[in-house]
Amino acid sequence: MKKSLCFATNNAHKLEEIQAILGDSFDLLSLKDINCIEELPETGNTLEANSLQKAQYLYDHYQVNCFADDSGLEVSALGGEPGVYSARYAGEQRVHADNINLLLKNLSSKADRSAQFRTVITLFQNGEYHQFEGIIKGQIIEELRGTDGFGYDPIFMPEGFDKTFAEMSLEEKGEISHRARAFQKLVAFLK
Ligand code: IMP
Repeated sequence: MKKSLCFATNNAHKLEEIQAILGDSFDLLSLKDINCIEELPETGNTLEANSLQKAQYLYDHYQVNCFADDSGLEVSALGGEPGVYSARYAGEQRVHADNINLLLKNLSSKADRSAQFRTVITLFQNGEYHQFEGIIKGQIIEELRGTDGFGYDPIFMPEGFDKTFAEMSLEEKGEISHRARAFQKLVAFLK
């Protein structure tokens, strides 16, 4: 029987990416599907705290089994920044191009350009929660390459590839991404 699960997002990119991993064994509901229109609280200082906060809010207020994810780009030479602040690195207006420009500027004098994307998912189910982590390591290149994807995709080249996330198809990225890896763990747990 299909399991119904709410994913704490209305982001079409993410829903598409995750539906591809889940296949048709799960009935994935968006926030819109459960009539949740308010912004979810996200005031933690870590990916773990933020994903837990979002999932717990939904479980408490909408009584649905659900999961929430939180991701960030962690750059070694910047002490793990922008990390949990990835979306608003260059300011509250959350503009991807501005975030990329700031990151490239802050990295311009650094020799070490290694970085990783990391996702933490919190599943809230029947009053209990479980967390799952996914990581993809790579390098920050000096110029933007590719037009697909979102966020920092044009400057992130995953280890073992000579193209950026923004030069990959949704399927290619979906096989190796931090989110995919975390979601594979979630799916294995659910099955
Ligand atoms: P979120 O928690 O998935 O909303 O991710 C927070 C921020 O991290 C996004 O707004 C992006 O700036 C960055 N980010 C997360 N995942 C990705 C990705 O797959 N590609 C590029 N940027 C990402």
